[in-house]
Amino acid sequence: MTAQQDPQRLQQLRSQLHEHNHRYYVLDDPSIPDAEYDRLFRELQQLEEKHPEWVTPDSPTQRVGAAPLSSFPEVRHQVPMLSLGNVFDDASLQAFVKRIQDSLSDLGRAADNPEFCCEPKLDGLAVSLTYEQGILVQGVTRGDGQSGEGITENLKTVRSIPLRLQGSADSWPDLLEVRGEVYMPRAAFEQMNDRARDKDDKVFANPRNAAAGSLRQLDPRVTAKRPLEFTAYQVARISASHDSETHFQAMQKLADWGFKISSELDVVKGYPGLKDYCDQLAEKRDQLPFDIDGAVLKLNNLRLQAELGFRAREPRWATAYKYPAQEEITRLLDVEFQVGRTGAVTPVARLEPVQVAGVTVSNATLHNMDEIARLDVRIGDQVIVRRAGDVIPQVAKVILTERPAEARSIHAPTQCPVCGSHVERAEGEAAYRCTGGLYCAAQRKEALKHFASRKALDIEGLGEKLIDQLVERGQVETPADLYGLNIDELENFDRMAKKSAKNLVEALEKSKQTTLPRFIYALGIREVGEATAANLARYFGSLDALRQASEEQLLEVDDVGPIVAQHIHAFFQEKHNNETINKLIKPVEKQGAGIHWPETARRREDLPLSGQTWVLTGSLESLTRDQAKARLEALGAKVSGSVSKKTSQLVAGAAAGSKLTKAESLGVPVMDEQELLDLLKKQEG
Ligand code: IVH
Repeated sequence: MTAQQDPQRLQQLRSQLHEHNHRYYVLDDPSIPDAEYDRLFRELQQLEEKHPEWVTPDSPTQRVGAAPLSSFPEVRHQVPMLSLGNVFDDASLQAFVKRIQDSLSDLGRAADNPEFCCEPKLDGLAVSLTYEQGILVQGVTRGDGQSGEGITENLKTVRSIPLRLQGSADSWPDLLEVRGEVYMPRAAFEQMNDRARDKDDKVFANPRNAAAGSLRQLDPRVTAKRPLEFTAYQVARISASHDSETHFQAMQKLADWGFKISSELDVVKGYPGLKDYCDQLAEKRDQLPFDIDGAVLKLNNLRLQAELGFRAREPRWATAYKYPAQEEITRLLDVEFQVGRTGAVTPVARLEPVQVAGVTVSNATLHNMDEIARLDVRIGDQVIVRRAGDVIPQVAKVILTERPAEARSIHAPTQCPVCGSHVERAEGEAAYRCTGGLYCAAQRKEALKHFASRKALDIEGLGEKLIDQLVERGQVETPADLYGLNIDELENFDRMAKKSAKNLVEALEKSKQTTLPRFIYALGIREVGEATAANLARYFGSLDALRQASEEQLLEVDDVGPIVAQHIHAFFQEKHNNETINKLIKPVEKQGAGIHWPETARRREDLPLSGQTWVLTGSLESLTRDQAKARLEALGAKVSGSVSKKTSQLVAGAAAGSKLTKAESLGVPVMDEQELLDLLKKQEG
């Protein structure tokens, strides 16, 4: 590219990256692969390195985190950031509506069934963002409402905050101050904590604390690594010509300018509409990907909002309908140890029953012994339990100041509480494990539950209670025994009528027709989840090939590292595992269970790249040379180290050298990394 073209390319890259960023982080609808985004990003970085004088604060490269600060500046809010009044029940919601109606009639305005705009009350931190001529110039925390801390650099790292507004510059207001909530989605929070537990890093009690801790970092590069999101919920200031009539319209404008607004935003009328909205949102609460602590109800008309004004430090035109808290205090009565499918012994807290977010909680997970040490929890302690979404309730914190004198410390068991086998802790592992294997009834039960689960063989009607009984009565030991059950036998079990027994036998029959990835997953090999099972099936093509694979071959498969390879290899070395597998797949006429799947293993000569010789050169960015080789070979290609007349295809990564020159002189077709990825994706289906 010539120096003259650089400024144009720079602008083009920035617009493209802004657009892709918005699609990915705000709309949740990316239109290009991640690798392509990364390529555009790097190209922009290189251009900016060449021309540092062209770097602007709104460039997509400026999100990654500026240099650390020594402190945050104090910034005064031009418009104070106030709080909201609360209502906790229908009577006070009704009173809120009545107050508004009365005030509206006092003002001589129509007061019947006023319109409200409703949205979730996100449980994060309020921040204010100022845009001048469409560019983000300042970001501030709420602080005490009058002034907060300037955390512009930290907020710039939040991908759903636009660094510059979307759309054409003539649609932008000269000045815009947007307010909204920064929060951490629940799944990302759980993942971050799991990783922190593994590495002995700081674990946060809840997503709100995690978001607060992340924004308070003086080093924006730390904030950049935290999975934060921003949703806008208010326009605090805007140039006059851009005024909206209603809050809802103002929110639509923000969406057009590239902000994420709540997908649950709705306009309703009067008390009946508000009540419906609050009830429906409460129903959805557990399914939302983030924590909410209520609904915010705002009079929709912005002029009426202004007329009603404020009382003390709260608006008269809005309130928060609060839902039951997701954290409560209770007492730890005891700790029991549960044995899982792979023998891991997990401490479970037995709690004095307490209502948490509408559900009675009497058990909570304590993860492992390291977590017990980290929390410094003892039996008898007052603890904070948290229940949010469909995550298992957790002990989030111990109230150390309330510790009773008789509190007892918790010790890992030395023997399995179920089968009495020795319990041991492998080096570098957090879990203690029962060494009983399938001798242990607990592990047998869990293995069967896993085998029957939805993503495995999906045996409908084979629930936890029935499996417990089948194992306890010695009727079923391995998954293969399930297929020997008949209606008469099943009828004898608790809560089993003839009809459900018949349904179960039919479900077992149906489960025999499955797929190879499901079958591999169902075996319950340690660390082999759904994705790894699919990779193994794709790579080896048949169960036989997988059973015979060496650890070296297993390492060639995506996602499989040395530990997983060892687990898989050891699983297929075990005699009783092989016996069970043989019984499962042997045809019915030979007294097997007859589980089968469409044979995906294509004959080598039918594979899409059979007969072709490929050469890889230069460095690839999104996969290693070995991975590329393994995937091409799985499609039937031969991968060679040197280019000749017989080479069918050369893949040239970055900084490709003599092989590329040679290929070009011999007329061998050349493709780049992206083309290779596209081809693999297409052929691997
Ligand atoms: S509107 C004048 N909308 O609630 C009041 N606030 O108690 C403007 N919050 O500090 C606030 N979600 O952190 C509003 N959809 C939402 C909200 C919301 C969460 C928080 C915000 C504020 C607190 C007010």
